[in-house]
Order: sequence, then structure tokens, then C-alpha cells
Amino acid sequence: MTSPTDPPNHFDEDVAATYDADVAAMSAPEVLGPTVDLLAELAGDGAALELAVGTGRVALPLAARGVPVHGIELSAAMVARLRANDPGRTVQVTVGDMTSTRVPGTFRVAYLVFNTVANVTTQEGQVACFRNAAAHLEPGGCFVVENGVPQLQRLPSASGTSRSRSRPSTWASTSTTW
Ligand SMILES: C[S@@+](CC[C@H](N)C(=O)[O-])C[C@H]1O[C@@H](n2cnc3c(N)ncnc32)[C@H](O)[C@@H]1O
Repeated sequence: MTSPTDPPNHFDEDVAATYDADVAAMSAPEVLGPTVDLLAELAGDGAALELAVGTGRVALPLAARGVPVHGIELSAAMVARLRANDPGRTVQVTVGDMTSTRVPGTFRVAYLVFNTVANVTTQEGQVACFRNAAAHLEPGGCFVVENGVPQLQRLPSASGTSRSRSRPSTWASTSTTW
């Protein structure tokens, strides 16, 4: 259920219904494994908080490694998919906005992956998101943000910026490095 005060969110029922299939390549062990390894290492014997947990792509394999994981997620439709993916309730979830929603407990690591910081479209909102992550962390805890950084050559031309002339036929098809 959404309320009129919720921030706009693209992840409605239609998107949630096909999300796992649509991002299957990003769930492959060779892609996800290093991410889960890093988060499990950072969590140590503590807990992890995922901002924008979605359907549990990262949270579920991290919980399977024995790390207690709590997720915050704005979309009730995505949470319903997470629940379906997690019949044993290995991941706790709170429906809410990651810029302001607080959950009980403290965490060794908080993380926000898959470019999702960009779903918050104002600087004020992104700062609130970082503040909220920090408020959940134990002293010495860590906030991990994964975000694609476009290659300068792939950005549209702008004053003072020029695209690479050396590989004009390849710049538009170069894959994103994560
Ligand atoms: C690209 S998906 C990533 C889901 C998951 N973290 C993953 O890696 O598969 C983006 C998620 O962010 C959620 N989201 C967007 N804005 C949010 C906000 N302000 N607070 C909490 N969740 C948000 C969306 O509902 C969606 O589930």
C-alpha cells in the first residue's frame, strides 16, 4: 500500500513481477559472489542492514551465510516478492523510505547497491540517506554504496568535454563496469 506522501517509485507491481527474471544476470554466482563475500567479511559477527532491499537478491544469499540481515524497502510489491522468495523469513524487512525509516538494533555494515542511491533524486535526499545509514551503524561500522560511474567518453557532449575520437564506433556499446 502506498500513501500520497511516499516518494515516487518505479518499482510497482508490474516491475516487481518480473524483477528477478529481469536481473537474473546480476544474480549469477560469479557476479553476486564477490559482493556477498565482501559484505559478509565486513559484517563479521555483526548484523547487516540493506537499504532498498528489493526482492532479496543480495540479502538472501548474505543471510544464508549466517549474517543477520534487515532490509528497508519502499515498495510493498517488492517486499511481497521478497517474502515469496524467503519462506523461512531469514531476512527481516521494514517497509519505508530509506532516507528516514529507522529499524531496531545496530549494524556492523549497511549497504545500498545496484545504483539505487540514484533512485533518490535530490542531493538533500541522498544526504538524508547517508545520515540514516550512519545512524544505524555501530561505532566503526561501514556503509557500502555500489554505483556505476559512466565513462567520461560516454557522456553526451558538453562544453569543455569531448568524446574520445580514437574509438568512435565503440563508445556507445561499451559495457558498464561495476
Ligand atoms: C534496482 S532495485 C535494487 C533492489 C536490491 N537492492 C537489489 O540489489 O536487487 C531498487 C530498489 O530500491 C527501492 N527504493 C527506491 N527508492 C527507495 C527509497 N526511497 N526507500 C527505500 N527503497 C527504495 C525500489 O523499490 C527497489 O526495490
